[in-house]
Amino acid sequence: MAVLVTGGAGYIGSHICLELIECGYDIVVVDNFSNSKFEALRRVMEMGNQSFPVYNLDLHNQKELSTIFDRHSIDAVIHLAGYKSVRDSTIDPINYYWNNIVSTLTLLEVMQMQDVYKLVFSSSATVYKASDKMPITEDYPLEACNPYGRTKLIIEQLLKDVHDSDPNWHITILRYFNPIGAHKSGRIGEDSNGTPNNLVPYLSNVAIGNYPKLYIFGNDYPTKDGTGVRDYIHVVDLAKGHIRALSRMEDMKGLEVFNLGTGTGYSVLELVKAFSQVSKKEIAYTITSRRNGDVAECYADVTKANNQLGWQAEKDIHEMCQDAWRWQQQNPNGY
Ligand code: WQD
Repeated sequence: MAVLVTGGAGYIGSHICLELIECGYDIVVVDNFSNSKFEALRRVMEMGNQSFPVYNLDLHNQKELSTIFDRHSIDAVIHLAGYKSVRDSTIDPINYYWNNIVSTLTLLEVMQMQDVYKLVFSSSATVYKASDKMPITEDYPLEACNPYGRTKLIIEQLLKDVHDSDPNWHITILRYFNPIGAHKSGRIGEDSNGTPNNLVPYLSNVAIGNYPKLYIFGNDYPTKDGTGVRDYIHVVDLAKGHIRALSRMEDMKGLEVFNLGTGTGYSVLELVKAFSQVSKKEIAYTITSRRNGDVAECYADVTKANNQLGWQAEKDIHEMCQDAWRWQQQNPNGY
């Protein structure tokens, strides 16, 4: 039996694929390579000493997707494929809704036709309504504030309807907080198209000299040092959370939601300091105005994942920065 990983060539997907094969799973990857490169998967095969089928396919292609299920005995799906830029989603919402939601509908239709009912879905903390009460538990109010976040929220609601319509479905929704870092080998890591929107990849490019300085979006938030506080989680810890979610579904039907974070919040300035320490580089920065849509603080209550998934993030912020830096140094221009 095999696990189908959609978006498996991406930053998070490639780390999940490596974790899956190291845990003995057979995998099949589907990716349209719109924001990823095959090289990531080549390196995963090399490190995991195992080849696996990779299909360059857009999930909207129901016929081709169905053929993949016919060809491989898929018994579970980890669904990561989707656009993920908050900024781009505000520029082109139609494309975001069409890409993220319609492709998920197509996937669900094919799964149902193929009698495959185990699904792990990659969601995001961005579905939570802005709140000043931290940490965030899974039952917090939901209200996304950008089209990207709304696609995630709509898909979550769609999955709940699908589950309610047929108790055969085992669905696990994982709400990622802020994934950063890279595999300790430095062979796979974050390599998105264009200028990074997120803090750590931008910070890392400043440290290596690709960008002159970091722009810190506001230092007037009601936080420990005025800059934004987030729950950064090592991408390998995140990947391990998916393995736990898969194995939990072996004997648990139903739909469950879990936060995947560390439960600790770090500010932008704390990240700058940590990154400067591991890279031994001065990080130049300028404080600018707040970024639209940003919240002051966002970090997880991870009790539920600890107790019900038997999962706990293990890597600290220093290791996250160290591993991110190693990837940057070994791959100054990405793959
Ligand atoms: C972190 C902090 C910024 C860049 C986003 C998405 C979320 C998820 C993770 C997909 C904030 C500050 C950032 C910069 C800065 N992605 N910052 N200068 O916004 O918490 O979450 O990525 O699921 O959906 O919303 O992450 O890394 O963009 O920002 O000062 O150049 O760093 O203001 O406080 P964010 P981020």
